[in-house]
Amino acid sequence: MIEELIKKEKKYLANVYKRFKVAFVRGKGAYLYDINGKKYLDFLAGIATVNLGHSNEYIVRRICEQAEKIIHTSNLFYIIPQIELAEILYNISKGYKSFFCNSGTEAVEAAIKLARKATGKKEIISTYNSFHGRTLGALSATGQDVYRKPFEPLVPKFKHVRFNDVENIKKAISKDTAAIILEPIQGEGGIIVPDDNYLKEVKEICEKNNVLLILDEVQTGMGRVGEFFAYMLYDVDPDIFCLAKALANGFPIGAMLARPEIMNKFEYGDHASTFGGNFLACIAAKASIEYILKHNILNNVKNISKYIFKKLEEIKDLDIVKEVRGRGLMIGIELKEKIGREIVEKCLEHGLVIGVVHDNVLRLLPPLIIERKHVDFAINVLKKILKEY
Ligand SMILES: Cc1ncc(COP(=O)(O)O)c(C=O)c1O
Repeated sequence: MIEELIKKEKKYLANVYKRFKVAFVRGKGAYLYDINGKKYLDFLAGIATVNLGHSNEYIVRRICEQAEKIIHTSNLFYIIPQIELAEILYNISKGYKSFFCNSGTEAVEAAIKLARKATGKKEIISTYNSFHGRTLGALSATGQDVYRKPFEPLVPKFKHVRFNDVENIKKAISKDTAAIILEPIQGEGGIIVPDDNYLKEVKEICEKNNVLLILDEVQTGMGRVGEFFAYMLYDVDPDIFCLAKALANGFPIGAMLARPEIMNKFEYGDHASTFGGNFLACIAAKASIEYILKHNILNNVKNISKYIFKKLEEIKDLDIVKEVRGRGLMIGIELKEKIGREIVEKCLEHGLVIGVVHDNVLRLLPPLIIERKHVDFAINVLKKILKEY
């Protein structure tokens, strides 16, 4: 059956995804089931997206109830769940206003536009090895040649600096710098965790130079690192930040949030989206946040994170492992060789779903609801496989 899917995919779809030979048809909590009924433990969560587990009953029910009432009207009219979601995010973030869109790349796009509009300046500084999305604006911020080169020329006035290097930022800032955009922890770049004081120092430089700080929390946000947003972990308030992925537990949505005095620089017509902030997405996001609060999910992340890092001690000294790093439930295992894809395939054979970037960093992004038994299973599988190298 999978061979049939592979054949049809080749015939009917754009050839942009390198897929593993598995098709999932059902999920429940931390588990996935493929077309043959085989069960897998999911330690990838749709790439840091299905944070509250597959088919989360509460969220599914809220989506179904909303779908039966109304799905779409457009932003020409007031949308009650959109306003309610913005109010919840305002309260959690302690005072940021929202603009809703449909993906991470769109949230970054909106942030870049707002930064230029709010400051009247043009230049955006971002970091090498970063990932901010693939539309031309977001791609111009993305700091990886492999994604950029085929599509040059990109948007002018983007500069790149080394991640975790404040001196490099100081040198790069000019009179025309509108903003610096950073991931608090680089995700697609290989789970690169900066020094604890890095973001604080960047913020100080921004304040001194009248430059906005944009944090791309598309991957780190919504509890992944044990706080609602990673900026809370580092005790730094950005001027603008971006959310998507887990905001609605897998239902497509993106959000760009900004301090009110900055967001208020956007005027009627400056930005918009047909689907942005629609009923279903906002209900799914509201339900996700309610679930996080009601079930104390952030606490679970903190506790289970300690446990998983302790268990990871069992593999960190294996010959093939170079480094284990991460925060919360955003974990990278760097290998000494580029064999990541092969390892992921072996994990799949053993009923474990994990991810890989740059072919040498395995990444574990499990749903935030996992328990010790899940961690034990995953680490045992990994240990068994990695020991053979
Ligand atoms: C930090 C970051 N920003 C932006 C994006 C782009 O998000 P999307 O794929 O929803 O457009 C991603 C996706 O992986 C991401 O990790």
